[in-house]
Amino acid sequence: MLSDCRGVSTSCQHADAIRGMESAHECALAFSGDAVAEIDAVLAEHPDFVMGHCFKAAMLTQEMETRIYADFVQSVEAAEALWSQANERERDHIRAVRAWVDGDFYGAVQHWEAALTKCPLDLLALQMVHQSDVLLGDVAGLRDCAAREFSLWEVSIPGYEFVIGFYAFGLEENRDFMHAEELGRQALALRPNNPYAVHAVAHVMEMRGRQSGGISFMKHHEKSWAQSNFANHLWWHLSLFHMDVGQVDKVLHLYDNHLRSQKHSGDRYEELDAAALLWRLKLLDVDVGHRWSELADKWETSASDTLYAFNDVHAMMTFVSDNRGEAAEQLLTANARYVDHASDANVAMSREMGMPFCLALQAFAQGKYGECVDRLLPARYNTHRLGGSFAQRDIIGWTLLEAALRARRFRLALALANERCALKPSSAQNWKYVARAHKGLDDLHRAAQAQAKANSLLAA
Ligand SMILES: [Fe+2]
Repeated sequence: MLSDCRGVSTSCQHADAIRGMESAHECALAFSGDAVAEIDAVLAEHPDFVMGHCFKAAMLTQEMETRIYADFVQSVEAAEALWSQANERERDHIRAVRAWVDGDFYGAVQHWEAALTKCPLDLLALQMVHQSDVLLGDVAGLRDCAAREFSLWEVSIPGYEFVIGFYAFGLEENRDFMHAEELGRQALALRPNNPYAVHAVAHVMEMRGRQSGGISFMKHHEKSWAQSNFANHLWWHLSLFHMDVGQVDKVLHLYDNHLRSQKHSGDRYEELDAAALLWRLKLLDVDVGHRWSELADKWETSASDTLYAFNDVHAMMTFVSDNRGEAAEQLLTANARYVDHASDANVAMSREMGMPFCLALQAFAQGKYGECVDRLLPARYNTHRLGGSFAQRDIIGWTLLEAALRARRFRLALALANERCALKPSSAQNWKYVARAHKGLDDLHRAAQAQAKANSLLAA
């Protein structure tokens, strides 16, 4: 039996199969090429390669789309058929992908954790735990899964630069910004072509409100990420920096050139970034023309999927913004039925955050701003249940604040705007919200002070 390049033992006796999987894995970690196509080629030569099947199934868990489901199930079954020859760590991987197919996402994470505890250098297990924690909104977990193994990794071990990228993002989401940036930049120094490390540093800058630094940083590293499979999401991050300094024309330019995903229709990750950006523009009252309609076309085919609440809320943004009442009702009905009858892990996400946010989005688009506030206010500290990052989920708090202002609930709006300013005082947008709330309360002096603060930030 052979070990992989990190010394992790496998049940495989073919060195070329292991090398092939390592190449596919590097693709996935560096967001380049097609990892699934690469492993398919390896499996065609070595159909009894246990970890090859586990690797493919693991990659497909992260898709959260129905269109890959048949391929995913086939891959899990192929791994299960090889159970008797699998070693203990490999069996943990098989258990993990089986749990995922059965809808037990949290159970899957536990099985990958078990593999990682046995073999701390099992980079696939670490990647799966970390990325699943992002999908499931386990904020502490996505930091701690890297922390548990980090001291056992050394710079000479292949993949170290990806491990510190994971750790950097986990630290950032837990507001340890300085340490996160240090590790993110270290990862980039070791491997410039490392989009996930670029992403971790971009998140630090987003959370700290370092807009101009963020724009320079993204531009400086553009060559290393703009052609990667993570480019769409990184263009979205660059758009947020421009939006925060009031450069709406630049945001629309980035949307039209990089976020419309015309060439890759059907990629949910790209389409949710597009929806999230257009909804932010809607909150700013920007007319985005036909863009909603084009995007809603792409989402409508999956209106009743109920596979992942995070997708559902982004689908809902497009339906209500393009006046597609029927698609919106179809999504709500499918979710209501799903929440009543299903028992998989996504049910809790849909019940606690997906449905309230979908209904709030519908209320907002219908001008029922008070209802939007009432739906979001009790749910706002459960937003992590939806998965994604703080930067992505900020759209919920932002919608709540805008709705509170439009509902003329100015006391609440002021409290929410003050909270945003405390977290990100360098955001001109946040100070504009404070100004609007004071103006609503007829405190014109404080309104002028807050507006002046916004203006000074914009001028800077
Ligand atoms: Fe992000």
